[in-house]
Amino acid sequence: MGCSSIMVAMMLSCFLILVSTVSSAPTPLTVGFYRHSCPPAEAIVQKYVDKFASRNPGLAAGLIRLHFHDCFVRGCDASVLLDGPNSEKQSIPNKGSLRGFEVIDAAKAELELRCPKTVSCADVLAFAARDSTAKLGNIYYPVPAGRRDGRVSSADEPLLSLPPPFFNATSLRDNFAAKGLSLDEMVTLSGAHSVGISHCSSFSARLRPAADPTMDPGYAAWLRGKCPANSTVDRTVDLDPITPNCLDNKYYVGLRANRGLLTTDQVLQSSPLTAGLVAENARNNGAWGKKFAAAMVKMGGIEVLTGKNGEIRNKCRFVN
Ligand code: HEM
Ligand SMILES: *[C@@H]1O[C@H](CO)[C@@H](O)[C@H](O)[C@H]1NC(C)=O
Ligand SMILES: *[C@@H]1O[C@H](CO)[C@@H](O)[C@H](O)[C@H]1NC(C)=O
Repeated sequence: MGCSSIMVAMMLSCFLILVSTVSSAPTPLTVGFYRHSCPPAEAIVQKYVDKFASRNPGLAAGLIRLHFHDCFVRGCDASVLLDGPNSEKQSIPNKGSLRGFEVIDAAKAELELRCPKTVSCADVLAFAARDSTAKLGNIYYPVPAGRRDGRVSSADEPLLSLPPPFFNATSLRDNFAAKGLSLDEMVTLSGAHSVGISHCSSFSARLRPAADPTMDPGYAAWLRGKCPANSTVDRTVDLDPITPNCLDNKYYVGLRANRGLLTTDQVLQSSPLTAGLVAENARNNGAWGKKFAAAMVKMGGIEVLTGKNGEIRNKCRFVN
């Protein structure tokens, strides 16, 4: 009798703890979030990604990178999209190299006509990164949505949260772990460098005065030609020398041939911490693609604003 009343009390307190944790837990993102509030939302974003990326596939690469740079700084809250003299756009990792903003602006403009004040810029960016992934890699995944937009963007923050291109494997691991991403997810997401470009300034320290010994000498000589010393313009080179416009596992095949462009690319092969994962990804494109889709969803959930937090911006470049 006593025992069972203790049990009841324990069950009751368990129940209360459960209720209170559930009620204070943040609203989760859900697939099909705009099904009732704005049924054409995802199709509208896809239409603009298709339209712009068909003309310039580089914009699809740019959109995938924009989502990463959004999510690692203040979470996926579209802070990277805000204009301003002291916004994230002005920071070293972002200035002069982020692209795809016009795709977001075009999609958002139509969304405001069709469903005013309903679809967040953070969700538009997550959908656009997904559609870019499909377009460049035939990799498909549903995007949980319901993100809301932040009201703060600061030029100091990207440098504190985003990994620089000279990090070693343990620093990369720790940087991603700080965002809840595993070593495997870090290596998997680095496969985004199987599309897009880099400016010479992001890897020129690997070329001169001496070539980085972990770089294939032929590739180094070719890159020295692409990135002349004392050039007045910061030129660009494909990140993946094998299939630069396909989001696929050839990036990892390149790493195994010492043809990784950034220090952070090649170190995945040269460090024993990650070399096995590189080999696995190089071996199996289908398995890598599945991991990439799952890791993009996980990245898209970093520190999101949901429920009544944040706002739905009218224009993605400005807070309301
Ligand atoms: C692992 C750490 C990472 C580092 C250090 C890094 C660094 C860089 C750098 C330096 C560039 C070239 C910028 C320039 O000079 O123009 C670049 C480009 C790019 N990054 Fe990353 N990145 C990392 C991870 C990621 C992740 C996780 C994604 C997405 C899932 C991503 C997607 C891209 C894409 C698509 C480009 C090409 C962008 C374009 O062509 O416009 N990167 N990254
Ligand atoms: C990686 O870089 C960090 C920070 O600079 C340093 O403390 C660490 O010793 C480096 N690890 C390796 C394996 O070189
Ligand atoms: C680049 O400029 C520096 C300083 O003006 C000069 O010493 C160097 O020889 C130049 N390098 C090349 C490859 O022209």
